[in-house]
Amino acid sequence: TIKGFAFDLDGVLADTARFHSQAWRQIAEELHIPWSEELESGIKGIDRMSSLMLILNSAGVADKYTEAEKETLATRKNDHYKELISTLTPDDVLPGMHEFLADLKANNLTMSIASASKNAPFILDKLQISDYFVGVVDPSKVKAGKPAPDIFAEAAKILDLQPEEVVGLEDSEAGITSINEAGEISVGIGDAMQLHAAKINFASTNDVNLAQIKAHLNW
Ligand code: G6P
Ligand code: MG
Repeated sequence: TIKGFAFDLDGVLADTARFHSQAWRQIAEELHIPWSEELESGIKGIDRMSSLMLILNSAGVADKYTEAEKETLATRKNDHYKELISTLTPDDVLPGMHEFLADLKANNLTMSIASASKNAPFILDKLQISDYFVGVVDPSKVKAGKPAPDIFAEAAKILDLQPEEVVGLEDSEAGITSINEAGEISVGIGDAMQLHAAKINFASTNDVNLAQIKAHLNW
């Protein structure tokens, strides 16, 4: 039976995917790399340096930059991103998620955060939802980022649960793969075609609800 939930943060709880994309888009423009739908969804879920590599590779220019230059670009993106997230308030919790968190809590289900973002603790604090979670995975302490299973596997350990007792929620393809590879039950939020590998799909955060998840799983 299901005993806990592991949450991705950006695009699932926090309305911050637009800020990641805005900050990367600015870097791409400076480098004269065209932005695309593929980049928009491709950067979701993957760590900072992998996002930069995806952008550089989309234009075939990754080897034109030294490691030091790439570090500088990634830092510059994060500085801009941090400026954008400094304005976050509890109103930036995505629609329906306040209610969903409260519902899980009322049902004694435990929760942890499975985000690739090093900014996760800061964002949870700004949104004032830190208290719902027994712990936050530190992405700098896991071997591999999403789509590898490590981040979601660690999120189950934090909950002190077996993977099959955990439901993972994600808005990215990389994240759904991570959940599935970790042996947990995947819930995709967003385009069902793109997130077809998810066990359960919801079109938006507003649609996510415990009763429907229970019904799907005969739990
Ligand atoms: C999340 C976002 C990604 C981002 C990653 C790292 O997974 O969906 O777009 O690249 O976190 O975030 P950070 O805040 O550490 O740069
Ligand atoms: Mg996400």
